[in-house]
Amino acid sequence: MATKVNKIGVLTSGGDAPGMNAAIRAVVRTATYNGLEAFGIMRGFMGMIDDDIVPMPSRSVANIIQRGGTILKTARCKEFYEREGREKAYKNLKKLGIDGLVIIGGDGSFRGADLFSREFDIPCIGLPGTIDKDIAGTDFTIGFDTAVNTAVEAIDKIRDTADAHDRLFIIEVMGRDAGYIALHSGIATGAETVLIPERKTDVEEIVRSLQEKERRKKLVNIIVVAEGEDFGGGNEVAKFIAERMPNADTRVCILGHIQRGGSPSCLDRLIASRMGYSAVESLMIGRHNVMVGILNNRMYYTPLEKAVKAKQKLSDDWLKIIRILAS
Ligand code: F6P
Repeated sequence: MATKVNKIGVLTSGGDAPGMNAAIRAVVRTATYNGLEAFGIMRGFMGMIDDDIVPMPSRSVANIIQRGGTILKTARCKEFYEREGREKAYKNLKKLGIDGLVIIGGDGSFRGADLFSREFDIPCIGLPGTIDKDIAGTDFTIGFDTAVNTAVEAIDKIRDTADAHDRLFIIEVMGRDAGYIALHSGIATGAETVLIPERKTDVEEIVRSLQEKERRKKLVNIIVVAEGEDFGGGNEVAKFIAERMPNADTRVCILGHIQRGGSPSCLDRLIASRMGYSAVESLMIGRHNVMVGILNNRMYYTPLEKAVKAKQKLSDDWLKIIRILAS
């Protein structure tokens, strides 16, 4: 039996990701279309605790679908992981009559939403918004496509200069716990190798392979490193290689937060719109405490509790492909 939802609160939490605005827009517009009231909660769970919650009529989301960042702002909120913080948040929502929540964020945000939904009678729907793509139960996360294309564009530019100077470039991309940006951008730019947190880094093997390439006069090489790989990131890897291969002209480039900003790609806008629409639809039909994903082009719902635990599986084939294609 579906519970009637009248007022929906939407928030963005954790690291921002391009496409979050498109998701907010979809939630607000779908809610309004169905005669529900939408509220924007500022700075993630922080706004729930601080009572920083604003009404969002349909026009409040005009002209944002193409914008990066998040108009609701975002934060990582420690207080929400304390019972006291969540109680305060609940009281503020109740005061306004908010009876459904949409949380756009990564696994940390879902952990908070899962705790909250177990304790209080406000159903929560999670939308996967993270450039890291490290969430199971969905083929896509909002922001990944834009971020990885930003990385590809940057690496292509670096390759031009690497080629002009016969240089070895170590390029660090984002991904503290996940190697998807590194893996995808590495394959797409013809990297020699890709170092990711999910696999042990073998720097000796990298040096051996580069030395063999040096003998063959293959001097232009790109190595893509995820920031969280276990040797210590781009600078450390570059230092080690430069010491062992003094003749190589080695440079490092840390791409950093440029990967988080910018106008969302068509794909990110599209999945954000579909997910935002399904989030409201879910609340209306009484689905609760699930993450909305897309698997094989169909909407797919994973209990929040499972979504926080499971990680996307990374295939060894991809690393093999890189090795073979880079010879
Ligand atoms: O979760 C997304 C992410 O971009 C990670 O890849 C990165 O390690 C982290 O956020 C950086 O977070 P912050 O912007 O807080 O330094």
